[in-house]
Amino acid sequence: MKDDVTAIARIETEGEIGLICLAKPPVNAVGLALRSAIHDAFQTLSQDPAIRAIVLYGEGRFFSAGADIKDFGKADVQPTLPQVLKALNDSDKPVIAALHGVAFGGALELALATHLRVGVAGLRIALPEVKLGLLPGAGGAQRLPRLTGLASAIDIICSGRDVLADEALSLGILDRLVDGPARGAGIAAARDVLAGTLAHRQTDARVVADDPAAVDAARIRLQAKRPALMAPLKALEAVCAATLPIDEGLAGERALFMELMAGDERAGLVHAFFAERATGQIPEKSATPRTIQRIAVIGGGTMGVGIATSLLIGGYQTDLIEAQSARVAQARSGIEKNLAGALKRGKLTAESHKAALDGLGCTDSLDVAAEADLVIEAIFENMEAKIGLFAKLDAICKPGAILATNTSYLDVNQIAAATARPEDVIGLHFFSPAHIMRLIEVVVAEKTAPSCVASAFALARKLGKVPVRAGNSDGFIGNRILTQYRRAADYLLLDGADFAGIDAALEEFGFAMGPFAVNDLAGLDIARATRDRKAATRPPQERYSRVADLICDQGWFGRKTGQGYYLYEAGKKPVAHPGAMAIVETERRALGLAPRAFSRETIVARCLTAMIAEAVRVLEEGVALRPVDIDAVELFGYGFPRHRGGPMHQADLIGPAELIRRIEDYAAEDPHFWQVPDLLRKMQRDGRSFADLNG
Ligand code: 3HC
Repeated sequence: MKDDVTAIARIETEGEIGLICLAKPPVNAVGLALRSAIHDAFQTLSQDPAIRAIVLYGEGRFFSAGADIKDFGKADVQPTLPQVLKALNDSDKPVIAALHGVAFGGALELALATHLRVGVAGLRIALPEVKLGLLPGAGGAQRLPRLTGLASAIDIICSGRDVLADEALSLGILDRLVDGPARGAGIAAARDVLAGTLAHRQTDARVVADDPAAVDAARIRLQAKRPALMAPLKALEAVCAATLPIDEGLAGERALFMELMAGDERAGLVHAFFAERATGQIPEKSATPRTIQRIAVIGGGTMGVGIATSLLIGGYQTDLIEAQSARVAQARSGIEKNLAGALKRGKLTAESHKAALDGLGCTDSLDVAAEADLVIEAIFENMEAKIGLFAKLDAICKPGAILATNTSYLDVNQIAAATARPEDVIGLHFFSPAHIMRLIEVVVAEKTAPSCVASAFALARKLGKVPVRAGNSDGFIGNRILTQYRRAADYLLLDGADFAGIDAALEEFGFAMGPFAVNDLAGLDIARATRDRKAATRPPQERYSRVADLICDQGWFGRKTGQGYYLYEAGKKPVAHPGAMAIVETERRALGLAPRAFSRETIVARCLTAMIAEAVRVLEEGVALRPVDIDAVELFGYGFPRHRGGPMHQADLIGPAELIRRIEDYAAEDPHFWQVPDLLRKMQRDGRSFADLNG
């Protein structure tokens, strides 16, 4: 038989062993084309009398990333993945999967349907479908328990977690774990099988014992999760079907899979998966990034400490510069504490933890910035202070060094103008805690050089972050939207809702915390400083809620002072602060407002519509490149519930007509705040969706 080197499922032969090589870059995703090709290749080898065993392996970095997420619309087109896998399982000839790198989702399901699995050291396997709002839909929920037992399968499938090779071997998912290329490992295993020295077996022939205790415990755990998502619970149902005869179990699993496939949860999570990856498509993509080896972070506060930690975890030599000598040691110990946490969580190995500590320098001398390829300023939000610092950096830093500001609101053009090299100045807006939060808004000022932007994106990806390109606008993308979201919540509070009720409604929607609980966490004094800064330019028509200012006047700044909207006592659940509610009521009386009742749906609708309206303005002003960039900002920096996909994704679900209707309705009482963005009207006229604008 002639080997076909161009096929995406390439047939190769080694004596009496036939091989099928998955060769569909970049990740061998099993869409309709690849599963059809595997099916055809398998039929060819099955019917060839010279072939006695069949090995499947993958070309490139991985065995395969699983079913093709972009091809979900064709999940039911024949041959379906379950049909292809059933043929593997039923084969008279031994079928062996040789796995390296990654075998996720449908790819692991494929391996589970073979008669023997060989792993190459370093392999990671997973059934991560629940992270996409799905469950394993090609027999994974039936075949994994047949190898591991019900309890382990529930754990792996309902969490979607990665399983490393050693664990996979000990659980019986892998039959053998070896070093070296997968192809050779597969051939060696096939030879042993043919020689009768290695046992193999049809997975479907095995039976699964029921385990009611494990099932009940899992159900209770999953139901208690917030947000309570459908996919893990349906996945549990599918795994439970593994105690039935295989064909019944497979049919039940597939029905549940197709039900989830049609749902909003799946659409939101898949959108989030691609949003994370789409943000890298920027106009500066072809520019060559500058070399960054040594980085200086200026400012030893929470932000500077978090940024330095993140850089050290990313392997960069990092100097933290804190002007007040007395605070240098404190900053160092903050970083050391963060790094110890990263070691504990497994984000660093003992070796990389030591390297990170060795790479850290802490000083009160700005002169160290002379050595840096990149300087990240993280001092307090004050334009004069930043201008002064950038002028000094201009004098100290070497030519070509990138000078970044971590400002969250201020004008980066103005900061750049303090230097004689505005092309080297950029905004790198990290989110707190910076070593945990994944978003970085990369703020491109008027004169920022493309190589500077490309460097920022390369750095962010190396740190495992999600960089989003933002234009220079007050609050960039995220804080602009946040301001309107908070304002909508403040107006609801004045008009009759209570803050705990508003928080509860938004938490039910999926936010980890409602806006008032978040304000307490961030510190009410911080937001007040921003409001004070903007007071002089506030439009006279703008409705202004004084509630937060009045709470601050009491010295209640939120969590850090033990009081804010909520009362905080060590070891107790925060409770709504009666003093804060009294302030709200007094303010309502002073304004002559008769409190109205708002349903949870109305609360969510108003807050979400305010977010969407501002997001559309951000888009039409070109501050964000595409709708998907806005979604990425909200998902990775502001805790927008992942299964909701982001505000632009929500806007498509709601539709422009309904959004316009809502805004016009709310505008009857506040025409300044509620205005229909032109772009939204245009979308309605043209019958277009925001997804269309992602290009
Ligand atoms: N389908 C389609 N495209 C995929 C894909 C998949 N399963 N997995 C990754 N890709 C794409 C990415 O979108 C990206 O495309 P881009 O370059 O155009 O942006 C490209 O492949 C490379 O991916 P990454 O940037 O993520 O590369 P990494 O090396 O960082 O990570 C990975 C590789 C670990 C495989 C990671 O991509 C991943 O986790 N993928 C998702 C795996 C997954 O969820 N599989 C389950 C699919 S659902 C399923 O199998 C249903 C079944 O039960 C029927």
